Amino acid sequence: MNPVNHVAIIMDGNGRWGLKKKNSRKAGHKAGLTTVEKIIKETVKNNIKYLTLYAFSTENWKRPKTEINYLFKLLENFLINKIDELNKQNIKFKVIGVKNFTNKLNNLLRLSEKKTSKNNKLQITLALNYGSKYELIKAFKNLKKNKNKFTEKNLKKYLQTKNIPDPDLLIRTGNTRRLSNFLLWQLAYSEIYFEKKLWPDFNKKDYNKIIQDYKKIKRNFGSV
Ligand code: IPE
Ligand code: IPE
Ligand code: MG
Repeated sequence: MNPVNHVAIIMDGNGRWGLKKKNSRKAGHKAGLTTVEKIIKETVKNNIKYLTLYAFSTENWKRPKTEINYLFKLLENFLINKIDELNKQNIKFKVIGVKNFTNKLNNLLRLSEKKTSKNNKLQITLALNYGSKYELIKAFKNLKKNKNKFTEKNLKKYLQTKNIPDPDLLIRTGNTRRLSNFLLWQLAYSEIYFEKKLWPDFNKKDYNKIIQDYKKIKRNFGSV
């Protein structure tokens, strides 16, 4: 049985769900947040140590301003209302990506990270304004600047995920089969599950089924 240490999720399909059910993409994002809470709970129950959630890509700035603002407002409210609860549950909150939002959101993110930095039950890593290509280019630039040898080990030191083991399992909901610039280096050997359901419809049963399936897989890492 494979132990599950790190699950990464591309939470896709909010917009389509919202349009279908309520004629509004925003409603989909709101519903998606409820799924986030359910999945966090289930991750704790499963004793998984790392959960990485893709919430906003470097390419998502191409979306309409009103949708972007709504997404960040949701996140703001979530942190204001829930960070103490996460803290109490011994959950560590960390952001990867570039924090170039409003001062209010930047500060809130930093504060949430600081408040929970000593926790060790589960680490939730939120990929926010995150792009894997940008992360890699920056890491290579740092290698060069510091005259480090171009090795895997040295490169890892400059990734934002330097203290996080690579994902065992990647789940992408929303019936789309692509990585969309997410953790390209870190996913080299992860098991990948493409889930047809849209993120707001994804539930604990679906999640547990994937986890159970994953446990039975024979991971070769190039060996036999
Ligand atoms: C949520 O899903 C992911 C975010 C970028 C917040 P989408 O908003 O991409 O939903 P679809 O793919 O348009 O349905
Ligand atoms: C990927 O979803 C990013 C997040 C889930 C945050 P997108 O919906 O932005 O991906 P593309 O543009 O369809 O590839
Ligand atoms: Mg999408």
